[in-house]
Parts: sequence; structure tokens; C-alpha cells
Amino acid sequence: MTKLFEPFTIRGVTLKNRIVMAPMCTNEASENGEVQPFHIVHYTSRAMGEVGLIMLEATAVEREGRIQPRDLGIWNDGHINGLQQLVSQLKAYGAKTAIQLAHAGRKATVDGRLLAPSAIAFNETYGTPNEMTTEDIQNIVIAYTDAAIRAKEAGFDVFEIHAAHGYLLSSFLSPLTNERDDEYGGSEENRYRFLREVIDAIRSVWDGPLFVRVSANDFAPGGLEASDFVQFSRWMAPQEVDLIDVSSGGVVPANIVSYPLYQVPFAKTIKAGANVQTGAVGLITTGTEAEQVLQQGSADLIFIGRELLRDPYFPYRAAKQLGVDLEPTVAVYKRGW
Ligand SMILES: Cc1cc2nc3c(=O)[nH]c(=O)nc-3n(C[C@H](O)[C@H](O)[C@H](O)COP(=O)(O)O)c2cc1C
Repeated sequence: MTKLFEPFTIRGVTLKNRIVMAPMCTNEASENGEVQPFHIVHYTSRAMGEVGLIMLEATAVEREGRIQPRDLGIWNDGHINGLQQLVSQLKAYGAKTAIQLAHAGRKATVDGRLLAPSAIAFNETYGTPNEMTTEDIQNIVIAYTDAAIRAKEAGFDVFEIHAAHGYLLSSFLSPLTNERDDEYGGSEENRYRFLREVIDAIRSVWDGPLFVRVSANDFAPGGLEASDFVQFSRWMAPQEVDLIDVSSGGVVPANIVSYPLYQVPFAKTIKAGANVQTGAVGLITTGTEAEQVLQQGSADLIFIGRELLRDPYFPYRAAKQLGVDLEPTVAVYKRGW
């Protein structure tokens, strides 16, 4: 038996394999952030493709926190019904379901007040954000809590907090974007405070699996590196975060040289350094590569992004490569493979 196709249990939820659909914005929601027939087809195809855990795209906890105008939303109760229908379809095809709870912060490209730790624009094409007041911060903590209550009602198995790619929570962690001199800026502990509060708030309403996505390298002088995330992850573990989903970049403009498995060493550093479970992502495109990452002990789950846009049936192909005989949820598909 390979590791990739071994079931994986996390806080009582068992995934049938270790393949996770990485969160990917589709910009196909209604203008109010509601689920459309598109999402049912798009995500359910990957469930029929035998992905173990389907993670929905960045789903905004506030209207102004959307990255793009047609991102999915979870900022009001009207969103629950559509999400519930989507979840039940995915479960019908044997997938476990996750939602990525997000606020775009200074990288939002929708109308509204731009929020950030400090009034520094991402680059000349983005607006200058407002330095958040303590009240703004508390309001976002409440927005995350309310979103988590809705996500629970919709029936998701796993929640992920988006704290990567320079979006709101991520921008508080990095000294390149956080120049505050109050209790939310300065020391590493202070820069972590906002994320700490969001994790605690979600944990007060959710006792299922909780992941946090991070950008483990800013690729810029003076920015964060994987070693900083060893420390952040050591703080997350006692807050009952179950897995660190290790991405990188997006915090400040940077030239990133990417190549197959380029982010895997960050996942490995965090896993070994903080003794936590990690997910690896980034240019993992074959079953062999995914298996290698797991066998080498760099990560516990494999997040697949663009390869699943190209091929919803990636898990079948990976199984073939690894000599695994899949028992498909849609029985007739076996005839094809
Ligand atoms: C179209 C697209 C949308 C994305 N949207 C998100 C997102 O909503 N949240 C997130 O954390 N990452 C997002 N990402 C990053 C992916 O989750 C993933 O980390 C990245 O594509 C690298 O993995 P890959 O090489 O397997 O594609 C997006 C990537 C793509 C290509």
C-alpha cells in the first residue's frame, strides 16, 4: 500500500486518501458571493475523481474581504443554503469537505474600505489600505467566528484559516507589511496576536479539524522564512490547530523561482521543527512526486492545485502510476481505468 492512498484520520475525520484539492478562487460566484450551478459541477467533478478532501476556494468572511468581486462568500446567513447543497453533493461522492475562510485585506479588489496592519499598498496597482483600529481587528475576529458558525451549519468537515499570500492575517505576521507599534505589531508574538485571536475564536465554536495556510517564505530581504513559521506553528499547536498548509509568497512583490516541489522543504522544516502535521503544495503534479513527499516525511497531506484544474481525475492517474487499484465511488469508472 502506498501512503498516498492510505486513509488519513485527523481529529476524528477520515479521508479516503491524502490528496487534497488546494483552495483555488474561481471567480464564478454571484455578485453576492452565492454558490452557483458552476460550483456544484466544478467541485463535484473532483469528488467523482476520487479526491480525498475537497477544499473550497477562499471564501470571504466579509463582503469587503473578497479578493475578486465574484468570490464565494460566507458573510451572511443567506450563504448557508448554497454551501450546504454543495457539501452534500461532495459527500455523496465520498469526498470530505473543507472551506477556506478568508479576508483579502489590502489585496482586496472590490469596493469598500481596504484593511491592513499598516497603510502600505501592495504595489502601485492596489489602493493604499487603512491602518486597522483595535475595533476593526475585533470586528474581523467576530466576522471569522460568525463565518465558522455558518460553515458548521453548512456541514463542512474541515475548516482552514487563510493566513497566507499577503491577505489580511498574513499581512499582520510579516514585518514587511506590519509596522504597527501597538500590541499587534513589533515582536513576533505581537504580529501573531491577530491570528491567535482568530484561531481561539474559531476554536470556541468548532471542535473539528482546523488547518491554517501560511506563506512560509516572503522571498524578500527582511521578510519571513520557514524558521519563523516553526515558531508560529509551535504557538498554533496548543491552540489545537491540526495541520499547517504550507504555501509561500504573495506578501510583497518578489521574484519567485518555482520548480517541481519547490515549497516542500518549507513544509518539512515546519513539520520537523514544530512537530506538527503539514500539508505540502506547489508544483506537485504526479503520483510519484506526491508519494515521495509523503515517504520522505516532509508532509502528511498533498495539496494539488493546477493539476486538478487540468485533470479532475488526477487521483486515478496517480493511482495508475503507483500501481494502486482504486475502487471508484462511481463504479462504472472502473471500466475506463
Ligand atoms: C486559479 C488559482 C486560484 C487560487 N486561489 C487560491 C485561494 O483561493 N486560496 C489559496 O490559499 N490559494 C489559492 N491559489 C494557490 C493554490 O492553492 C496553490 O497553492 C498553488 O496553485 C500552487 O499549487 P499547484 O502548483 O499545485 O497549482 C490559487 C491558485 C490558482 C492557480
